[in-house]
Amino acid sequence: MKLKQQINKTIQQAFDKANINENAMSVSEATKPEFGDYQFNGAMALAKKLGKNPRHIAEMIVENLDLTGILAKAEIAGPGFINLWINPLWIAKQCQIALNDERLGVNKKENPVKVVVDYSGPNMAKQMHVGHLRSTIIGDTLANLLEFLGDEVIRQNHIGDWGTQFGMLIAYLEETGEDGSVCLRDLEQFYKDAKKRFDEDENFANKAREYVVKIQSGDMHCLNLWQKFIDISLGHCEDVYSKLCVKLTRDDVKAESFYNEDLPQVIEDLIKQNLLKESDGAQCVFLEGEEIPVIVQKGDGGYLYATTDLAALRYRANVLGAKRISYVVDARQAGHFKQVFKVAKESGFVPEDVRLEHVAFGMMMDKSGRPFKTRDGGTVKLVDLLDEAVVRAKDTIKEKEGYSEEEVERLAKVIGIGAVKYADLAINRESNYIFNWDKMLSFEGNTSLYMQYAYARIQSIFRKHHGEIKGEIIIGDDLEKRLAVMLLRFEDMLEQAAENAAPNHITAYLYELATLFMRFYERNPILKEGVDEATKMSRLQLADLAAKTIKQGLDILGIEVVDKL
Ligand code: ARG
Repeated sequence: MKLKQQINKTIQQAFDKANINENAMSVSEATKPEFGDYQFNGAMALAKKLGKNPRHIAEMIVENLDLTGILAKAEIAGPGFINLWINPLWIAKQCQIALNDERLGVNKKENPVKVVVDYSGPNMAKQMHVGHLRSTIIGDTLANLLEFLGDEVIRQNHIGDWGTQFGMLIAYLEETGEDGSVCLRDLEQFYKDAKKRFDEDENFANKAREYVVKIQSGDMHCLNLWQKFIDISLGHCEDVYSKLCVKLTRDDVKAESFYNEDLPQVIEDLIKQNLLKESDGAQCVFLEGEEIPVIVQKGDGGYLYATTDLAALRYRANVLGAKRISYVVDARQAGHFKQVFKVAKESGFVPEDVRLEHVAFGMMMDKSGRPFKTRDGGTVKLVDLLDEAVVRAKDTIKEKEGYSEEEVERLAKVIGIGAVKYADLAINRESNYIFNWDKMLSFEGNTSLYMQYAYARIQSIFRKHHGEIKGEIIIGDDLEKRLAVMLLRFEDMLEQAAENAAPNHITAYLYELATLFMRFYERNPILKEGVDEATKMSRLQLADLAAKTIKQGLDILGIEVVDKL
């Protein structure tokens, strides 16, 4: 349900009736219960424009406002705010409709578009580390969200599988014998060992350099070794994806090497557009207002990260047909994306109407605000971190009795992985993120555990209730009404989250919703003796809708729920 749009329509009707020939601006959610449910703040700007008194304008609007449908009450406040109260009967009916709908009343977009979400993008030379965690989690959520709203989402995993370091790795893979896969079990170590050989042994280093040339010129033997390396390396990433319950598959991989063939053409087309200039032997694009040019070809003929991204951009816009391309990548690459987006538009590689966005995120820090590292200063491997999350989650539920070992395992996974993901998604993505086990595994506060607990609590009500659920939702008191309005805001919130590529809108909403539900449930018992049948039925249904909304929200975040906690 597009709640705001519905209210805006009612206001527009009042404008029309009052002969105000303007478009009514949007209402906003009231910040305090005493301001009603929504607020219209447009009277002031309008008064200025029309040269009239704002309170007078507000009065004109209120006088013509239909208070027999969606709205029940309107009150002028301050210099000309209009506080609006929604009609409880209307709310009850809409909640009922949402409950009977498997999409909970959320419409699919009328004009869906093709969206490419570029996320995860690990580098094959190394084991995935915590730095890739944020991209993977935020990107997957964004993809889920857009998909749920009806867009056609194409996930793209732009893995780094090309570059001079592969010569070294392949030389080492060959040297370690037939079954390199054994050594590759620990990629980090493998990389270090190969680097050591490279630095220490001139013969090895020369061989590595030869391999670079050979791979690039398509030597089959080398390419096979390279492919083997990539396969194993990607397999490691896929273990992480599966632990994380993210939806990336091998089909979503479009590696850097995929664009190799197009790179000479990229250069040629930039030349045709008169965009290239030679500088210190390198081919560069100088952009207006930018000090540093975009280098697209080095003096030795080699291509760069930016060249590949230009090729990827035009592939995505022209071959895949994307109208929105979202790059979920570390904020430190902001300069890179700003520049390649500009070049892509200026060169016509990407049509003007395609929306290009860098969905930037901050770094992951430890409790003391330093970049996240292992105790001995190394990078924390993602697999280790996720395994630790599960172990810690087990500790949290250990005291609970009546669980089989199997159940504990499953629960620990759902809770532990959920906690890591939720904590990451719940902050403004552009801020640096402080990783804190105790906070993320708490039952209190804006955590996945709190959400999972609220969900399970509602399920326990349904386990205790026997018999059919019938009758209507009736909005009894104010708290019940706030809960219901919150439930109806689901679609508006999702739309905002999608527009801003901001998963923390979802977590903030879920937190508010779960908190409201808990308060509602404390005050308004459902199954207690003395609650009349109609009230009980109504509250059961509201609880059901709350649980379903929490579950759907968490599902978009890629977090599971359990019926018992
Ligand atoms: N492999 C890159 C890195 O680890 C991320 C790739 C992001 N995607 C892109 N199209 N550049 O920094």
